[in-house]
Amino acid sequence: EHVALGIDIGGTNTAYGLVNRKGEVLFEDSIVTTDYQDPESLVEKIYNDVKENGYLESLLGLGVGAPNGNTFTGNIEFAPNLKWKGVIPIAELFEQKFHRPTLLANDANAAAIGEHLFGNAKDLNDFVLITLGTGLGSGIFIDGELIVGSQGFAGEFGHVRVVQNGRLCGCGRNGCLETYVSSTGVVRSVNELESIHKADSTLTKKSKVSAKEVFLAANSGDQFACEIVEYTAEILGNALADFAAFSNPKAYLLFGGLAQSGAYFSEKVKKYMEENLLKIYQGNIEIRNSALHDMNAAVLGTAAAMFWKAIKK
Ligand code: BGC
Ligand code: NA
Ligand code: ZN
Repeated sequence: EHVALGIDIGGTNTAYGLVNRKGEVLFEDSIVTTDYQDPESLVEKIYNDVKENGYLESLLGLGVGAPNGNTFTGNIEFAPNLKWKGVIPIAELFEQKFHRPTLLANDANAAAIGEHLFGNAKDLNDFVLITLGTGLGSGIFIDGELIVGSQGFAGEFGHVRVVQNGRLCGCGRNGCLETYVSSTGVVRSVNELESIHKADSTLTKKSKVSAKEVFLAANSGDQFACEIVEYTAEILGNALADFAAFSNPKAYLLFGGLAQSGAYFSEKVKKYMEENLLKIYQGNIEIRNSALHDMNAAVLGTAAAMFWKAIKK
């Protein structure tokens, strides 16, 4: 049986898996991206893993999703949330090691393709998938097609400015959406927001807190955590209302573990979006969760789906 290798390079973790033609995951693993000084050593590690597990023979090709990944060039270009700086010829590095064709896509675009082929966007021609991880990414489908744009960088919604003179972003600008709405943004809110409930919160008793812990605390009623989740949802809801004017989607898909940590967040996102939509869109745009739940499982559908799609053409 032939397999494709799907790889999702993230700011924090890199997940990869072998997927067959039906979209079944035969093997998967995850490593810490920041443990690898350079992309070559990460490629090497994944190669050895695939080889040791006996999948090299049946491997047809690779699909890689990465922040600032460009399908046209095969390069990761100036990713704000990766420690490898500048332009990285990632598709070429995988090709040289594996001797197999390798496709690169923006990570959120890859996730959108995965959801369209295998997940919760099968019935949708017009949707925007939003990934909430270390950064915020988006993948835009219009009329059944993924939009890549003139240079291959369409859909950089994480870097739309939502606050004038706001938080400094990894891209060098300030007030970008992802500095508020992402796992790193949520942690910044814990430190920066003032509240009468702050002193009583379980969050402030810890020396280091994760976004996931903030969302869990909100689900169990911690007031300060609820305020942070609401603040995050308000900024995202407003942004989604604005983005609607651009592509008139049927639905927004919220992707990744953070987006799905409890109904509280998505209900609030929906509320703020609805309140701020133009009248012509009101009541017509759904907020959905993605089906390929955590980031790890998602990769598979995603990057590998991209590979199957390419060879079908
Ligand atoms: C990058 C996007 C990426 C997103 C999620 C952003 O900072 O600019 O390309 O899709 O993070 O990883
Ligand atoms: Na994108
Ligand atoms: Zn930015």
